[in-house]
Amino acid sequence: MNNFLWGTSTAAYQIEGGANEDGRTPSIWDTFSHAPGKVMDGDTGDVACDHYHRSADDVRLLAKIGVDAYRFSLSWPRVRPGGRGQLNQRGIDFYKRLIDDLRAHDIEPFVTLNHWDLPQDLEDAGGWPARETAYRFAEYASLAFSALGDRVTYWTTHNEPWCSAFLGYGSGIHAPGRTDGADALAAAHHLNLAHGLAVPLLTGAKVGISLNLHAFLGDPEAVRRLDAVGNRVFLDPLLRGSYPSDLIADTAGVTDWGFVHDGDLAIIHQPFDFLGMNYYTRSVVELSPTKVFPSEWPGSEHVRFMPRDLARTDMGWEIDPAGLADLLRRVHEEYGPIPLYITENGAAYPDALDDRDRIGYLESHIRVCQEAVAAGIPLRGYFLWSLMDNFEWSWGYSKRFGIIQVDYESQARTPRASAHWYADLIRTGHLGG
Ligand code: FCB
Repeated sequence: MNNFLWGTSTAAYQIEGGANEDGRTPSIWDTFSHAPGKVMDGDTGDVACDHYHRSADDVRLLAKIGVDAYRFSLSWPRVRPGGRGQLNQRGIDFYKRLIDDLRAHDIEPFVTLNHWDLPQDLEDAGGWPARETAYRFAEYASLAFSALGDRVTYWTTHNEPWCSAFLGYGSGIHAPGRTDGADALAAAHHLNLAHGLAVPLLTGAKVGISLNLHAFLGDPEAVRRLDAVGNRVFLDPLLRGSYPSDLIADTAGVTDWGFVHDGDLAIIHQPFDFLGMNYYTRSVVELSPTKVFPSEWPGSEHVRFMPRDLARTDMGWEIDPAGLADLLRRVHEEYGPIPLYITENGAAYPDALDDRDRIGYLESHIRVCQEAVAAGIPLRGYFLWSLMDNFEWSWGYSKRFGIIQVDYESQARTPRASAHWYADLIRTGHLGG
């Protein structure tokens, strides 16, 4: 696959640590993880993988694997503490060092601006359900770009805005832990708006967004509903300039969509350079006579997820690479011809260095990517989640996604069999087998 980029992914809050250093202020994930009962075992990202102090070693590990590209996120409250005012030079210096190190090893940086770590001060002012947050994000994007734009070509506005909106403000299993369907939909709109405000500010860059597109099978009405509030709530405004009319009808009992102002959709709908897709699993869904989801899927409360008899990862997620094939085809056919990247794909398994299950998972999904490229879908790269074990949000450190094992006591990193396997794949360009 010529010019195809092989990479790995991480995110600031999940690996950096250094939570109180060099002027960084708390994000919603600092607050959430320190609140009792929110994260498994009371884990927090205070130290995480201590990447803030070990980035040079981590770049050496990336170089050993031989990746073409590395996707990571800027910690919003490290770059712009409190979410307002000037840049924090010490925060920026950390990213300059990291990026220069990557470049010195011929690794292309892919920078995500928002991987969920909204500054707590902006949450206190209303968070994503408040329109102001979109403007604060655009300012932050512009400041970060003015400091790093000379070094970074590929920029992503948001990672998985669905999770920020619907898990953060709907189900409340993610920070900031609020549970209101109307707020979740307002948050989704303001995330879209924030993207649209930021794109034109990143002049000359290649700009994208990473969506966790959901793959569903099952009852057509259940699929339609969840597809509207799970996928089209982002895809349609971003790539077509409108919200789906069925979504607006489904959610009429939840909100009147008054948060969409005149002109917003024109701001949101403008050309950008690539669409990132994060894929882990697919689900079978059906309609339910009783309410299943109070606010995680606003407008689709009467839908349920049906387990299948498939192998699962340690997250309990069913392994279904065909779902990725379907999504790639569908996005290309319905929303094309935008270039695509898989910005996350990977699997959690109980700790082991000889992680054959993970290799099997990766192999089957990468095969799908190769088939998509062969079929003419403009898939340009694949980022494996994750370079190393890290803080898996509400699961804390209990779930391990890394191709590099992290011993959180000593901070020792040990490449797993999957890291060697991935290095071979990148070197030879062949899956083997
Ligand atoms: C995605 C997140 C990423 C990681 C993986 C497992 O939803 O973007 O940070 O936690 O799941």
